[in-house]
Amino acid sequence: MQRVPFLFNAEKNLSILSTASFLTTHYKGKTNVMVTAWGSIGYMWKLPVLVAMVRKSRYTYSLMTKSHEFTASVPYADFSREIEICGQQSGSKIDKIAACHFTLRPGEKIATPVLDIPGMHFECKVIYNRLMSAERLDSTINELWYDRVHGDYHAFFIAQVVDSYLLP
Ligand SMILES: Cc1cc2nc3c(=O)[nH]c(=O)nc-3n(C[C@H](O)[C@H](O)[C@H](O)COP(=O)(O)O)c2cc1C
Repeated sequence: MQRVPFLFNAEKNLSILSTASFLTTHYKGKTNVMVTAWGSIGYMWKLPVLVAMVRKSRYTYSLMTKSHEFTASVPYADFSREIEICGQQSGSKIDKIAACHFTLRPGEKIATPVLDIPGMHFECKVIYNRLMSAERLDSTINELWYDRVHGDYHAFFIAQVVDSYLLP
């Protein structure tokens, strides 16, 4: 494990984050992984933050609103099969860690484990979460992304990055 600054490889990480990365949650003995492509990294309240957008219908949403933490793993190798599983199946129905043969490492600073895969990893503590509302949303975006899925809005999870490192 090589600890690196939060913005290390930022351009590369953002490019992968906006295509497909893994978000791991853990609550009361249950660990789950989903794929995210919507989110960002930056600074808020003078803190390094990672913002994830997770729809309310996701099993991840139910775990993360209780645990208030997650780990984000930006893969530096081909994980197409795992992305297909974790991006299409729900942890409420299957054990995705087992289905993907993922190995987990304990978090360094938080209780949520980290995927032991080559790439950059962020340990994140949620400091604010908020479900989107139709009234505040641009109508074109609402129609494009939400109307057809019956208002299954995203929640913004703004999280302080408390550790960041590379795994081989
Ligand atoms: C490439 C890709 C990107 C995705 N990005 C997001 C995202 O940013 N937010 C989200 O809520 N769902 C996203 N999804 C869908 C979830 O990963 C998917 O619904 C998953 O099965 C949810 O798992 P869960 O119910 O175990 O939480 C994405 C799926 C794929 C394949």
